[in-house]
Amino acid sequence: MAQAQALATHPTSNITPEKVREGIELEINGRQFRHTGDADMPLLWYLRDVLRLTGTKYGGEHGLGGADLVLVNNKAVSAITLPMHQVSGKKVTTVEGLAAVDGKLHPLQQAFVDEDAIGCGYCTPGWLIASLDLLNRHPHPGDNEIEQLPNLCRCGCQTRVRRAIKRAAAAIDGGRA
Ligand code: FES
Repeated sequence: MAQAQALATHPTSNITPEKVREGIELEINGRQFRHTGDADMPLLWYLRDVLRLTGTKYGGEHGLGGADLVLVNNKAVSAITLPMHQVSGKKVTTVEGLAAVDGKLHPLQQAFVDEDAIGCGYCTPGWLIASLDLLNRHPHPGDNEIEQLPNLCRCGCQTRVRRAIKRAAAAIDGGRA
């Protein structure tokens, strides 16, 4: 009796234990991961701070400029605006997942190198992801489609990026033939 009374008045008696988090499962660059932390954490911080996939860059809290784009189920999405609970069960591709396993660059990456479309490189991962999304929708994009991409480049590489995207489109098309 006395023991039950003591337990009821113990300072921890009215603490409700937090529910055990089951975790959020998702696929990133072909590998399975389970996030057991905050479900509202933006995907960008999970990629960069937890997995150390630092290719995807921070471009501001609203994702303007496209530096933080990743593919989610094959569509380009801003990783800073996407909480982890919204990527549960989805497939994410970051810039680190573009090259082949043997290290061979993706045709887009190769085209960016060949056209010298990289300045400081901060914007480049976002351009690559946005371009891949564009080529999935328009295998041969014109200037109009390319200009609608949300990406910005402070180094002024836009003209060379445009050439690189068209070069990659031709290379991918040639690879299909
Ligand atoms: S290459 Fe420097 S911001 Fe684009």
